[in-house]
This record gives sequence, structure tokens and C-alpha cells, in this order.
Amino acid sequence: NESIYILAIESSCDDTSVAVLKNNTILSNVVASQKIHEEYGGVVPELASRAHQQNIVPVTDQALAKANIDKKQLSAIAFTRGPGLLGSLLVGTSFAKSLSLALDIPLIEVNHMQAHILAHFIKADTMKTPAFPFIALTISGGHTQIVKVKDFFDMEILGQTLDDAVGETFDKSAKVLDLPYPGGPLIDKYAATGNPYAFEFPIPKVKDLDFSFSGLKTSILYFIQKQTSQNPNFIQENLEDICASIQFTIIQILMRKLKKVVKKTGIKNIAIGGGVSANSGIRKALKAAEKELGWTTYIPNFEFCTDNAGMIGIVGYYKFKLGQFTSQETSAKARYHI
Ligand code: KG4
Ligand code: ZN
Repeated sequence: NESIYILAIESSCDDTSVAVLKNNTILSNVVASQKIHEEYGGVVPELASRAHQQNIVPVTDQALAKANIDKKQLSAIAFTRGPGLLGSLLVGTSFAKSLSLALDIPLIEVNHMQAHILAHFIKADTMKTPAFPFIALTISGGHTQIVKVKDFFDMEILGQTLDDAVGETFDKSAKVLDLPYPGGPLIDKYAATGNPYAFEFPIPKVKDLDFSFSGLKTSILYFIQKQTSQNPNFIQENLEDICASIQFTIIQILMRKLKKVVKKTGIKNIAIGGGVSANSGIRKALKAAEKELGWTTYIPNFEFCTDNAGMIGIVGYYKFKLGQFTSQETSAKARYHI
């Protein structure tokens, strides 16, 4: 049995990433984050595409060098076809097609949301792989989904956000608090030393397994506006408590829906993925649910939570084994269901 070497490319949002895998292990996983968006308080699509264009060749060279692999050894090129920002996806897609043509090896398209879920199958000492069926909670800057995963490529969306994503809620709350973009990790950091019960924010009533965060976002904005009009130093004086209270509310919302899906499906295997699964509060709440509720939880290593090409590569590996290749006619898809 010969080894399969996959070069994977991720360019759906503001991170340019290239990974090289040998079967299900990561040889290299290089991520170039685009700092340019910080000063704008969010991702500027036009600037993201340009940065991908500049980064993609050097990042690919670095990934190959780090993996100590020559291009000629590669078995296939995997790339993110969508969902994401079209201009960003086009850069990765065009580059992947060109590489596959030049090296005369197969091309494999990957759905970014499937990749966040299948990241759990990357072989790493510190990670255990989920058993099918399992429930995946995918929480990122652009998505919030509860997915029933029956097999590698047999997934069913059971619930999703009707408006903003969880990551967006973190980032927009951070913006209200004058924290730089992306604010999620900073809220996490300040929350660690704050009191989660200091301020109360409403938990939205949303049917079934769907989510809504726009109401919460607005109530956080109004609360801060009101408090700072009375005390201009309100944010500085209460930053930790505000962050802890916001994070606590978001975790409550997620945990309630997870309890609901477990009740509905009887499945107690819970896997989280996406950038927000790097949040320490969520990781802690899930760990607690193992003891308190008898769940088995799967939490990926930090580097496989946020956008990275390693997760694209693992999907590429499983598709390669199934012979699921993509023709050169393929094109990027901004909206792309799992
Ligand atoms: O998966 P990802 O890297 O990109 C998308 O596909 O969207 O997720 C990025 C999101 C951002 O909203 C960022 O603020 C959030 O993940 N995030 C966090 C943490 N680390 C990243 N949110 C809360 N706590 C964190 N520790
Ligand atoms: Zn993502």
C-alpha cells in the first residue's frame, strides 16, 4: 500500500493556508493570517483576495519545504471550493487547478464546512476520532450549524442560525467594546478573570435546533451605550465582567441547543469545530458535560479549529480513497451546502 500525499489549499476567508498530508497525518500546515483587516474592524473582501494572491505561492513553497516533500511526489491537489468569499475562493481554486494541470495529478474539491467537521479525523496524538453517528456543532465567523454526521460524506443539517453566526456575535460585541478585530479570542481572554453573572443578557427563544444572535447582539450594544452614557469609563472599569457575561450567555445558548439535539436524536457523541471552538469557555462546558450528562465530546487541537488547510487535506485524503475527483471545469462556489 503506497502512501497518499495530498497538497491542500484553503482561501475561503482571510487566511491563506497550505498543508501537506501523508495519508491522515499532517506533515505541514502553514497559515498566513491577513493583518490588513484589523484596522477596518472586519474582513474587507477586496483586500482579502489581493492578499491571497500575494501569499499563495510563498505559503505553498513553505508548506512543501516544511513537509520535506517534492512537488513530484504529490498524489493530488485538494482545495476549498466554498462556501466563502467569492474573490478569495477564486484565488485558491485557480491556483489548485493550475497546479493539478501542471503536475498532471487529480484535483479534489472540498466543502469548507465539511472540512471543519472532518478535521476530527486528522491523526494526532492529542485527538481522538469520533465514532459515527455523531453530532457536530460547527461554530465559526460565518456559520453556526448543528449537523448529524452519519458517515464521512453523509451529513444532515439539523439546525442553523437564522441571522448572525456565533463568531460574528463575538466579533461584533468586541467591536462595541473597542477591541480590535477579530475580537473573539480577546473576549475569551478577558472573560477568564471576569464574573459571568455580573450582567444579564437575554437568551433568545428560537424554535427547534435553530439559532438567532441578532437580538443578543443588539441588546449588548444598547446595554453598553446606556451604561457609557452614564459612566464614560464603564467599559474600562468592567471589561472582564462584561466579556465573561457575554461569553457565558453565548455558551448557555449553545449548550441548550446541544442538550436538545441529544434528546431528539439520542446521540451523545458531540464534536465541535470551527474557529469559535477554540473558545476556552465552550471547551470547558463540553468537558463538564462529559461528567454531568454522560456525553462523549470531541474537541480538536487549536490549530485545527480555526481556518487551516490541514482540515481541507483530510477531506482530500478520504475523497482520494473513494476516487472522488473533480474536473477542470469546476469553479468556486460562494454558497455551498454540505
Ligand atoms: O473558522 P474560522 O477561523 O473562520 C471562519 O470560517 O469564519 O472562525 C473565525 C471566528 C472569528 O469570529 C473569531 O473571533 C472566532 O472564530 N474565534 C473565537 C476564538 N478564537 C477564534 N471566538 C471566541 N473565542 C475564541 N477563543
Ligand atoms: Zn472556517
